[in-house]
Amino acid sequence: MSVPTRPFGALRLIQTGTGVRMDLREIRWDELDPGPIGIRVHYSSVNYKDALAATGSGKILRRPEVIGGLDLAGEVIVSEDPNFPCGSLVVAVGGGLGESRDGGFSEYARVPADLLVRLDPGLGTYAAMQIGTAGFTALLALRRLQAQGIRPEDGPVVVSGATGGVGSFAINLLDGMGYAVSALTHKSGCEAYLRAIGAREILGPKDWSPTGPPLLSGRWAGGIDNVGGAALSWMIRSARRGGAIASVGMAASPELQMTVFPFILRGVSLIGINSTEVEDGVRRALWHDLAHRARPEAIDRIAPQQIPLAALPASFEDWIANRVVGRVVVAIAKE
Ligand SMILES: NC(=O)c1ccc[n+]([C@@H]2O[C@H](COP(=O)([O-])OP(=O)(O)OC[C@H]3O[C@@H](n4cnc5c(N)ncnc54)[C@H](OP(=O)(O)O)[C@@H]3O)[C@@H](O)[C@H]2O)c1
Repeated sequence: MSVPTRPFGALRLIQTGTGVRMDLREIRWDELDPGPIGIRVHYSSVNYKDALAATGSGKILRRPEVIGGLDLAGEVIVSEDPNFPCGSLVVAVGGGLGESRDGGFSEYARVPADLLVRLDPGLGTYAAMQIGTAGFTALLALRRLQAQGIRPEDGPVVVSGATGGVGSFAINLLDGMGYAVSALTHKSGCEAYLRAIGAREILGPKDWSPTGPPLLSGRWAGGIDNVGGAALSWMIRSARRGGAIASVGMAASPELQMTVFPFILRGVSLIGINSTEVEDGVRRALWHDLAHRARPEAIDRIAPQQIPLAALPASFEDWIANRVVGRVVVAIAKE
């Protein structure tokens, strides 16, 4: 396969004076951001941040115009790097894709080598995007809890934003490693889904309070938070002595209002997770681990659906309105 001579489809995001305009149109190879490795993109996926970027609901774009898509998986078609020969299957998540450089919502991409990981045999490009940024981030958060010494026998781990991409993979990976997981969700009717992916307990809005004393009775050995705000405060205030909570997202709020009591009186740790800038060796180790640890039937439960590039623009509102369960793959130029 070589560089395409024909125009191909891409979703460009263009900042206007008042927001962001989506422009789904055909572009040419030399309109892509330059990069030493050319990829035929098989699949991308939709992340919450993609929806924020495309709708202008969040200030995500770091330049006036960019091709969206935080992640991609595909086949190398031209390469200046012997570590990524033509024909290799690769995945890229974060690293500014879809924010400061052209991302995965395009039939082709040209990227620097340090964003790429070669896929383990056994993990195809479709499975890689079912997992995507969400599964990668969930495993990163889990590893950080483990580095803090949180073991399955220490007690239950709570996961907020449970039906979302990161939440779903966090639940499934924790369960697979023997942790008892409590899933905190704002959606009704998702109990069967959450139990099927590994949650032992389901918590809804009635099971926690956005207000309350600086310390609640200690329940959680650990936590992975995807929503921020009052839920994150509640998770920290109800952590056990020596517990650790990983802060991943802010789907509800970037605010955190609480005292320092849980940190000082209980030795609770708050761990910040940034999946965008992960050291190369760690990135490769996480993808290797995902290839062996993520169970295919669970991946299919969490990400059962794929949509074509043409359906993307109309889909983003569903994420902003919190109507999505699990993850959605974007089929760009299938394997
Ligand atoms: N730090 C990092 O490196 C990193 C990496 C990836 C993602 N993120 C962030 O992590 C969060 C989750 O990402 P994702 O891709 O999993 O998103 P997602 O699939 O859209 O899931 C987010 C989940 O949060 C909950 N939620 C959404 N809107 C909410 C609201 N207004 N109030 C309360 N809860 C709400 C919902 O779960 P329930 O309905 O089940 O409560 C939703 O399913 C996002 O904020 C994302 O930007 C951070």
